[in-house]
Amino acid sequence: MDSALPLDVPAGPPPGLPDPSTLAQLANAFFSALPGEALPVARSGAVSGVPGTAGALPLAAPVLAEASNPVPAGSPLAGPGGAGTGVPGAAIPQGQVAGANLLPAAPTHVLSLGHRAPALAPHAAAQNGLPDNVVTVAPALDPRFGGAALGVPEGVGAQRPSAGGASVPSSPSAPSPYYFLDGSSDHRSAAGATPDIVVPGWTSVSAQSFGLPGADEPLTTSRFPYDVGSAGASSGSTSRYFIDDAAQAPASGQPAKAGGAIPAVGPSSHPPFDVNAVRRDFPILQERVNGRQLVWFDNAATTHKPQSVIDRLSYFYAHENSNIHRAAHALAGRATDAYEAARSKVQRFIGASSPDEIIFVRGTTEAINLIAKTWGVKHVGEGDEIIVSHLEHHANIVPWQQLAAQTGATLRVIPVDDTGQVLLEEYRRLLSDRTKIVSVTQVSNALGTVVPVKEIVELAHRAGAKALVDGAQSVSHMRVDVQAIDADFFVFSGHKVFGPTGIGVVYGKRAILEDMPPWQGGGNMIADVTFERTVFQPPPGRFEAGTGNIADAVGLGAAIDYVTRVGIENIARYEHDLLAYATSVLAPVPGVRLIGTARDKASVLSFVLKGYETEEVGSALNEEGIAVRSGHHCAQPILRRFGVEATVRPSLAFYNTCDEVDRMVSVVKKLASRRY
Ligand code: ALA
Repeated sequence: MDSALPLDVPAGPPPGLPDPSTLAQLANAFFSALPGEALPVARSGAVSGVPGTAGALPLAAPVLAEASNPVPAGSPLAGPGGAGTGVPGAAIPQGQVAGANLLPAAPTHVLSLGHRAPALAPHAAAQNGLPDNVVTVAPALDPRFGGAALGVPEGVGAQRPSAGGASVPSSPSAPSPYYFLDGSSDHRSAAGATPDIVVPGWTSVSAQSFGLPGADEPLTTSRFPYDVGSAGASSGSTSRYFIDDAAQAPASGQPAKAGGAIPAVGPSSHPPFDVNAVRRDFPILQERVNGRQLVWFDNAATTHKPQSVIDRLSYFYAHENSNIHRAAHALAGRATDAYEAARSKVQRFIGASSPDEIIFVRGTTEAINLIAKTWGVKHVGEGDEIIVSHLEHHANIVPWQQLAAQTGATLRVIPVDDTGQVLLEEYRRLLSDRTKIVSVTQVSNALGTVVPVKEIVELAHRAGAKALVDGAQSVSHMRVDVQAIDADFFVFSGHKVFGPTGIGVVYGKRAILEDMPPWQGGGNMIADVTFERTVFQPPPGRFEAGTGNIADAVGLGAAIDYVTRVGIENIARYEHDLLAYATSVLAPVPGVRLIGTARDKASVLSFVLKGYETEEVGSALNEEGIAVRSGHHCAQPILRRFGVEATVRPSLAFYNTCDEVDRMVSVVKKLASRRY
C-alpha cells in the first residue's frame, strides 16, 4: 500500500542534480499543493542531496507511481490535469460533440415555457376570479382548527477470494475505461484501446454535454429540453428500468438479501460493475491526505461528487443562471427548464407518480421540519401520538418533540433488539387510534440497520396513521419506490446521493400535499396577493417560498443521472459484498466491538475499540489518509441503547474497495496490538 518516501534519498545523479525519485517527490509536492497555496512545510529536515529543500518538502510526499487509478499516461482519457477525470464519466466517440454522452440518452426537446413555468402561465389572475386549482389556506403556524436488491456482483466484485466471493478487482492502476460510454453501443470493451476518442477538457464542456442548447445556438423556447423525462421516451425507459427490475423475481442462483426487507432483483441490463472505472469519475478520490491516497469512509455524512455533477453545476452558472418561474427572458426559461427537469428526475428516481409530489428543500432535516410544521400542526393535537423508532437521527426526533410540546401530543418509540433491528411486535403494540403519524428511517445512519419500512407503513395505515420514511441513508444504496412502500412522505438529501449540499427532497402523496398549509410565506409560493388575503400555489410551489437552491437542484438531477447509469442494483450488490467483506475482516480484530449487527444492513460499520476513545481511532485513521466519522452521529438515543456515547463509523459507498478496507483494518489492528 502507500508508503512514505524515505527522507534520505541516496545520491546517484551528478553532483548538484536531484535524482529521479527526488524529482518525483518534488513534483508531487508541487502538484498536490492547491493553486495559490505554498508547498507543504516539512515536519523536519531537508531532502538529502537536494540543495535548498530544507523546510520545503513534506515528509511523506506522495510517490507518482503510487497514485491509484490514474489515467494511463498519454491516454486520451486524461483530464486537463493529466491524471484527473477529463470527462464526466465518459469518453466521447469520434465525431460527437464533446460532452454529448453525458446524459443517459438523447433528450426529447419539449416546448415547455408556455405550460410549465407558473409565472408565464399563471394559475390565478385575481382574487375575484380564482381558478379551481389554487387553495386559500392558513399558514401552518397559525392557530389550527382542531387540530424500498442485493446479491453477488455481476462483474468485478468487491469480495476477496477469502470472503468467498468474486475475484478481487484488478490493480487499481490497470487501464480501464470510464464507466459511462455512449449508452447506445458497448464501447467499454474497446475503450481502453480507442485512439479515436476525443476528450474535452474542463473548458470545453458544452451545452450538449447536458442535452442543452449550445451557447452558440440561438435560443428558442422550442429548444428547451424541459422535463425530458415525463414525456421523453429516453427518460421514460430510464424510469421503466427501475420498475421492470423491481418486478423481476430473483434470478436463479442469485442470493437475495437476508431478511427480504429489500426486494432482490435479477441481473440488470447495465454494464457489469467496475469499481475502478467508477472511481475515475470522482476526482476527489485522487486526493492525498497526510501523504496517502484518500480513503473516504464517511459516506453516511456526505458523499463525493462525480465529475458530471461538478460539470453540471459549472455549466448552469456559465450558461443558464437565472431565477426561475419569473420572467419571459431566455435564461429564465433555461433555468426553469433545468430545475423542473431535475424535479422530474427525482420523481422517477424514487417512483413518485408525479413531479408535483416532489418539493425541493435544503435537505432531510428541513424536509422533516416542513412536514412536522405543516401537516403536523394541522393534524396532530392534544392526546395524539407520534411514533418514531429508537434508531432515528436527531432530525427525525427533535421536530416531532417540538410538535408534541406545541400540541400536547406524545412521542412513542419503537424499541430495537440487540442487533439493532426494530421490534415489529412492540411496534404493533404502540399503534392505536391515537397514532397520527409514524416516522422511521429506512437505513440507520449510526448502525446501518435496514428497517422493514414497507411493513411499518402498512401497519401505520391499518391504524389510520400517516407514515414518513426518512431515506437520507437509503437512496444511495438501494432502489427506492415510494409507491411500493406506500409512504405518505419520503425525504432525502442530495448530498448523500452524490449530489450537491443544500438540496433535498420532500415527497408527499399528492392528495396529502394539497391538503397541507404552506410553511414559509413569500414569493414563488403565491398565486395572488392582496393586503387582505393571499392565494397560494398548489404543490409543489406552495412549499417553495423564495428563491430556492436552483443550481443544486439541477446538480442533484445530474447525480441521479449518474446513479441511474451505473445502476442502483449494481451499486446495491457491490456494496453488499463490500460490507460483508469489511465486516468479516474488522469483526475479528481483538478489542473491536461492532455496534449494530442486524442481518439487514447497508453501508455502515459502527464499532468501538477497547482501550481507545473513538476520536483517537478516528485520528489514527486520518493520519493514514482514511476518513471516518467518530462521535455520536446525531443519533444519541440509539448509541445509548448499546451503552456507548460514541462510535467509530466507517460508512461505505460504491467507489470504495477491499484494498481500502484492508488499509483501515491494518490501522485498527495496529492500535489494538498496542493496548489490547
Ligand atoms: N447525518 C449525517 C451523518 O450521519 C451527518 O453523519
